[in-house]
Amino acid sequence: SYDRQTVGRVLAERGQLDGPLMPVLHGVQDALGHVPEQAVAQIAQALNLSRAEVHGVLTYYHHFRTQPVKGPLLQVCRAEACRSMGGEQLLQHAQGAGGCSVEPVYCLGLCAMAPAVMLEGQPYARMTPARLDELLDDVGG
Ligand code: FES
Repeated sequence: SYDRQTVGRVLAERGQLDGPLMPVLHGVQDALGHVPEQAVAQIAQALNLSRAEVHGVLTYYHHFRTQPVKGPLLQVCRAEACRSMGGEQLLQHAQGAGGCSVEPVYCLGLCAMAPAVMLEGQPYARMTPARLDELLDDVGG
């Protein structure tokens, strides 16, 4: 089950906009922290779209999550500068470490100090696996 009422409120607020799907998905994620798969039918019906359309947009954009975040949210940059400085290894390390939700992002604006990550909204540059472990320990990850 999911919070049908909150989704309904977002639909009431944003459903009349031009091209309402993105604003609605953003609104639901802001309110619930994620967009539950089960809400797809409700959103599709309210916006007069097919479930496949809503599902397609929901899964296409990395920004949207269909599961609640478990533990602290760690975003690891996968764009060019970070990639060339070991960003991919960092991502794998983070995924293996557990205890936090790992999400790829594409450029955090810290390319000159790559590789960069963002932990709970706080950016960190020149990251290494060892430093990352320490950071995660600090936030109880
Ligand atoms: Fe990673 Fe810009 S490429 S911060």
